[in-house]
Amino acid sequence: MGSMTDSTSQVPAEDSAPASMAERVEGRSRRPDSDAFREFMGSGWGPRDASLPEREAVAGFLPARAAAAGEPFPGERLVVPAGTYKVRNNDCTYRFRAYSAFAHLSGLGAEKEPDSVLVLEPRADGPHEAVLFFKPRASRTSQEFYADARYGEFWVGARPSLDEVSAATGLRCEHIDTLRDALAKDAGQVGLRVVRGVDEQVERMVNEVRSEAGLADGEDARGADEEFEERLSEIRLRKDPFEIGELTRAVEVTRAGFDDILRALPRAVGHRRGERVIEGAFGAVAREEGNGLGYDTIAAAGDHANTLHWIDNDGPVHEGDLVLVDAGVEVDSLYTADITRTLPVSGRFTEVQARVYQAVLDACEAALARANEPGTRFRDVHDAAMRVIAARLEEWGLLPVSAEEALSPAGQQHRRWMPHGTSHHLGLDVHDCAQARREMYQDALLEPGMCFTIEPGLYFRADDMMVPEEYRGIGVRIEDDVVVGDDGRVVRLSESIPRTIADVEAWIASAQGR
Ligand code: GLY
Ligand code: MN
Ligand code: MN
Repeated sequence: MGSMTDSTSQVPAEDSAPASMAERVEGRSRRPDSDAFREFMGSGWGPRDASLPEREAVAGFLPARAAAAGEPFPGERLVVPAGTYKVRNNDCTYRFRAYSAFAHLSGLGAEKEPDSVLVLEPRADGPHEAVLFFKPRASRTSQEFYADARYGEFWVGARPSLDEVSAATGLRCEHIDTLRDALAKDAGQVGLRVVRGVDEQVERMVNEVRSEAGLADGEDARGADEEFEERLSEIRLRKDPFEIGELTRAVEVTRAGFDDILRALPRAVGHRRGERVIEGAFGAVAREEGNGLGYDTIAAAGDHANTLHWIDNDGPVHEGDLVLVDAGVEVDSLYTADITRTLPVSGRFTEVQARVYQAVLDACEAALARANEPGTRFRDVHDAAMRVIAARLEEWGLLPVSAEEALSPAGQQHRRWMPHGTSHHLGLDVHDCAQARREMYQDALLEPGMCFTIEPGLYFRADDMMVPEEYRGIGVRIEDDVVVGDDGRVVRLSESIPRTIADVEAWIASAQGR
C-alpha cells in the first residue's frame, strides 16, 4: 500500500540544489504525466451504477441530534471536523476512524469520511441544520482517479458522490472546496465555534474566518469552543433507540468473540504467548463482524490481571490460572461494547479463586440493585459496589481499619485492591461523554437511555505482602454493559454472557465440547 509502490529512486544531478523531502518522494514515481496517458487511464471503464443507496436507519435520528447539539447556541455556526488520517510512518497511515461527535451527527461509520466536516448551520426559524462537507469522488478522467493514493479510487476503492451520501444520510452535502466560503457567509453577525484538536487545518480556517470577521479567535475563543465540545458530549448521555440497537449488537458480537476465546483456551495453554492467542481469537471476530476493537483487548493471565491496563498480552496461560479478558467489539456504526469476564483456564475455579470471584459478583449485584432504585445518581452505583468490596475485605481480615472507616472519604484503604471506578458511560467511545460536566455525569440522576458499565474488581498482586499468600496473584473483574429503560429499570445488555461461577464453568465446558 501507499504511494511508493510504483517507485524507483531518482538521483538528483550533482550540481542541482538538494530536493525537498516531498520532491524526493514524489520524484520516485515513474508515472508518465502526459495528456495521452491520462486519457488512456480514464477511458474504457464500464458504466457506474447510477442508482442511489437506500436511506440508512440512522438518518431519521440525525435532525434531532443536530437540534440538540445546537440548541444552546442560536445564531451560531458550529463546526465539527471528522479528523484526518494519522501517520503511522512515512506515507503509511492508520486506518481512519472519525471523531466520535462527527460520527454521531453525520451517522457515518467505519472509515467514513476522512477530511470531511459537519457544519451545524443556524436557522432563523428553527433548529440548526447539519450540512456535510466532504471531498466526493473525482471523475475517472481526472488524475486523482488513478494517481492520488489518498482519495483516488484506484488506491482506496469506490468513493461516494455528494448525492449518494445525501441519499443515505438525509443530510445536505456540499463539496469540501466550498467550506471556507460557507464558513465566512455573514460571519460577524453569525458566530463561529469549532471543536479543537481534531483537524488542525479546519481549526486554522475557522480562526482565519473569525479574525477577518472581527470575531474572537485563537485563545480568546477557547472557552466558547470548549463549551461546544462539552455540549457534544452531554447530548450523548442519553442514547436514542438507534444507538441502543447498535450497542445491543456490539454486545452480541462481543459474546461471539468470548465464545471463540473459550474454544481457543486449550491452544492458549500450549502456546508460549497464550495471552496473544486469546487476543487474536477475539480480534478475528471483532474484525469479521464489526469495524474492529473498541479498545485494545486486555488478555491477562494470572498476576497480569493485576496490571489494570495489561495490553502487552505476551504472557503464557497456565492451567490453574484465572485469565481476565476485557474486550469489546466496535460495530460498523462505531458503537462499542466493553465486557470483562474472568475465566478459570482449567474450566473450574479453585476454592480461593471462587471466594474472590463471588465477592466481585456480589459487588456487581449490589451496584445493579442500586441502579434500579429510584433517585439513584451515577456515582451511587460505585458506592454500592464499594460497600460490598470493603465488607469482604474486612471479613477476610485484610483491611487495616473497619469497612466503615475505609469507606469514609479520608480512609479509602480498600482502593489498594480496587483502585478504579465501577462505571463509565458507554457509546461511540468506550469512555463515552468524557467532556460532560460533573453535574451531568457523576452527580446526575440515572435517566432512561443512559448506557454504562458496571465493573467492580479485586486485585491482589503477587508481591502484595499485606494479603495472605493464597490471595496473591489473583485478579478478578466482572464487567457488564447496562442501559436504563423507559420505565427506569436497568437492563443488562450483556445478560447472555455468563458470569455466575456455575454458569461460567458450564459455558467453558460447553464451548469446549465437554
Ligand atoms: N476496557 C476499559 C474499561 O473497562 O474501562
Ligand atoms: Mn473494560
Ligand atoms: Mn469499562
